[in-house]
Amino acid sequence: MAEKTVTLSFSDGTPDATFPVMESTMGPDVIDIRALYKQTGKFTYDPGFMSTASCSSTITYIDGDKGELLYRGYAIDDLAKNCDFLEVCQLLVYGELPTKEQHKKFSELIIHHTMVHEQMHFFMRGFRRDAHPMAALTGLLGAMSAFYPDSMNIHDPKVRERSAIRLIAKMPTLVAMAYKYSIGEPYIYPDNSLSYAGNVLRMMFATPCEEYKLNPVLERALDRILILHADHEQNASTSTVRLCASSGTNPIAAIAAGVASLWGPAHGGANEACLNMLNEIQEQGGVEKIGEFIEKFKDKNSGIRLMGFGHRVYRNYDPRAKLMRETCHEVLGELGLEKDPLFKLAMTLEKIALEDEYFVSRKLYPNVDFYSGIVQKAMGIPVQLFTAIFALARTVGWIAQLNEMVTDPDYKIGRPRQRFIGSTPRKVKPLSER
Ligand code: SDX
Repeated sequence: MAEKTVTLSFSDGTPDATFPVMESTMGPDVIDIRALYKQTGKFTYDPGFMSTASCSSTITYIDGDKGELLYRGYAIDDLAKNCDFLEVCQLLVYGELPTKEQHKKFSELIIHHTMVHEQMHFFMRGFRRDAHPMAALTGLLGAMSAFYPDSMNIHDPKVRERSAIRLIAKMPTLVAMAYKYSIGEPYIYPDNSLSYAGNVLRMMFATPCEEYKLNPVLERALDRILILHADHEQNASTSTVRLCASSGTNPIAAIAAGVASLWGPAHGGANEACLNMLNEIQEQGGVEKIGEFIEKFKDKNSGIRLMGFGHRVYRNYDPRAKLMRETCHEVLGELGLEKDPLFKLAMTLEKIALEDEYFVSRKLYPNVDFYSGIVQKAMGIPVQLFTAIFALARTVGWIAQLNEMVTDPDYKIGRPRQRFIGSTPRKVKPLSER
């Protein structure tokens, strides 16, 4: 079949230029404009990457109009109902769901890499107790990259594999360390007899003074939260990891950059911002005040947005939000918190927003962050730690995307161009004349 092409014609006399159109298995085809500058002397302009593909990928696909999310072709609700987080990790990193034997072997590998070097504790001591956990996590990962001089060469598949195992295994330990440090409690070492999610809960909530009783409903809820947050195409933090690693820096340092990007309230920080928003509405009168807040969220000058709503890609309900709301029900039911005022407030807010023309016309729906804060708060996870839990989950996605970038035959160091609108050349006047 003849190659698909597109021809650009210019009104400024620049000669027509033809470019190949590359097909996708799902979603939009792409125009290969790598030769655009050479052929036309022009750049494209797309600051928010609204219409720009930064890479080819086989990992995650989102259908924004249908509100669908697939990891390696499997629907997120199918995975959330039938797999645990470590199975999803293997799917994202290796491309296939593991057999029973592979799952056992991988789980064993992760379990035996959960401890961090004892000297990592000294880095925590440099922080104030009230340091935001995302600041601690960014710092700890930067520090941890110095502990593995054998894992600097990102082009060595063995280094990438070793770093993947270390990062998936150690992120829970680092997140729990940041939490324990903030409340002045001793660190709890990983327990190799527990599941991945079970270890996260125990390292966060156990104390050396008594046996920790793991609640299987909370363990399963956290495992699902991790699955829902594991990967999400070329979002801001994933693109940060790809761009950072494209210079050849080591995988652990690149993941530290991803953590820093995820921290932002427009991205991973939205679950913390969403819960703070719900608390503020609650404090100012709750359901009766929702109308006033909705007007503020719609007013550009208010400087505030309905956190947990809207998405760059989803122009329909975020499938993760649906699953997260289910998990919310389960956890609140298990803990006898069905009457949780914040949950009821969130459901009322969701209902009103979904009927309001402003949100409907802009296709603004609840995203994963709208309910994840409520369920984490119910589980006893402090608000400031929500985004660190998000980073813990997304680490596997960042790793899978980094590995894909480094092994992509089209791989080059990322170096965007710009549209320059600054001063044309001018002479320096000596200070005495200025
Ligand atoms: C995550 O990219 C990913 O995949 C991210 C993520 C992942 O898993 O990695 O899914 C995780 O980051 C989810 C998003 C969490 N963020 C929030 O919940 C913060 C609140 N939402 C927004 O700030 C916003 O919706 C974004 C940042 C998520 C998306 O922004 P876009 O696509 O750049 O959309 P936009 O800012 O251009 O908004 C389009 C219009 C604007 O109004 P108009 O100029 O057309 O009049 O919608 C309005 C915006 O003002 N709008 C909102 C709104 N979100 C968009 N108005 C009120 N409340 C909101 N939440």
